[in-house]
Amino acid sequence: MITDAFDRPLRDLRISVTDRCNFRCTYCMPTEIFGEKYQFMKNHQLLSFEEIVRLTRLIVQLGAVKLRLTGGEPLVRQEIEKLVAYLAEIQGVHDLAMTTNGVLLPPKAAMLRDAGLKRVTISLDTLDNDIFRRMNGGKADVEDVLKGIRAAEVAGFSPIKINAVVQRGVNDHTIVDLARFCKDNGYVLRFIEYMDVGTRNGWVMDDVVTADEIIQRIDAVLPIEPLPRQYASETSLRFRYRDGGGELGIIASVTKPFCGACSRLRMSPEGQLYTCLFATHGTDLKTPLRGGATDDELLDIIAHMWKKRSDRYSEVRSTQTTNDRDKIEMYYIGG
Ligand code: GTP
Ligand code: 5AD
Ligand code: SF4
Ligand code: SF4
Repeated sequence: MITDAFDRPLRDLRISVTDRCNFRCTYCMPTEIFGEKYQFMKNHQLLSFEEIVRLTRLIVQLGAVKLRLTGGEPLVRQEIEKLVAYLAEIQGVHDLAMTTNGVLLPPKAAMLRDAGLKRVTISLDTLDNDIFRRMNGGKADVEDVLKGIRAAEVAGFSPIKINAVVQRGVNDHTIVDLARFCKDNGYVLRFIEYMDVGTRNGWVMDDVVTADEIIQRIDAVLPIEPLPRQYASETSLRFRYRDGGGELGIIASVTKPFCGACSRLRMSPEGQLYTCLFATHGTDLKTPLRGGATDDELLDIIAHMWKKRSDRYSEVRSTQTTNDRDKIEMYYIGG
């Protein structure tokens, strides 16, 4: 097991399998930028499944036990279930999850589960269809996501987590409805503070609805109380409904950062490794991989990178109220 400059182990690997998405969320891939002419990565630039599996196996050797597939939208990558099956076979992997917008789940959910996927987290920012369409660039209706959620349930995924980004003046007046819906259906909802990921979403602090405010607004209608952390590197502050009706989480990266125990490494679709969601530069693994590097050589590169890791972006951001530093984009690294 290796640790970084702040003594943090490498425990989680988030694998982004594509920079493409069937949505155009305004806070992630605004249509004005990601239009018809936008050049996404070509297939030969992407790591193949074999390459992803080889790198993952090495990163698991260095301590990773949790894997998460992201994108873009991971389900737009052809035959993603095959990758799931290969990853599920790696010795030492305790958890294999996927973050998806859910729309492509109906034909795939059972296949993914059979392939060994353990958990799905589905993004759904609001139940109000007009607002939802506005937020996703007019690409899908709420009902399309609900069908995906139901398909995941039928396939046996449990519990299902729902992620909702909260933006002031956009969907914040609908959070209680979403909480009630998830509570009634047994889904674990996590509200995410709108973050300054990347450089293209025009983030300003005024658009952030803070965790405290979210908690207060939910608690006023559906009383909640805090739950303890389940493990050190958990992203989410957890709460339970006082009536016994399930769990709710808040991911407060902006107002209550959780860098102190951050054990997450991120792999981009073309084989760059990033030690932080807000990194500017990655470490290129594709070039040595395709240049014939041995496993030991690759292990050396990854271990060296992790040992000198000193990222704690969210903790040092606190004085910043606009988004002007050069950083990787969310659609490319998947949250
Ligand atoms: P589980 O709790 O294991 O289900 O995973 P998770 O909390 O990592 O789940 P998920 O992928 O759904 O993450 C939710 C969101 O939290 C991401 O999409 C990001 O917006 C945010 N997030 C996750 N990891 C980090 C991190 O390391 N730093 C920051 N700032 N935000 C993160
Ligand atoms: N701030 C917070 N969350 C974001 N996501 C995408 N962009 C942002 C942002 N700027 C969320 C998505 C999805 C997860 C992968 O990250 O909605 O739930
Ligand atoms: Fe696609 Fe997720 Fe980005 Fe929305 S937030 S555009 S669903 S990758
Ligand atoms: Fe980890 Fe960077 Fe997120 Fe902090 S900001 S929790 S270091 S990924």
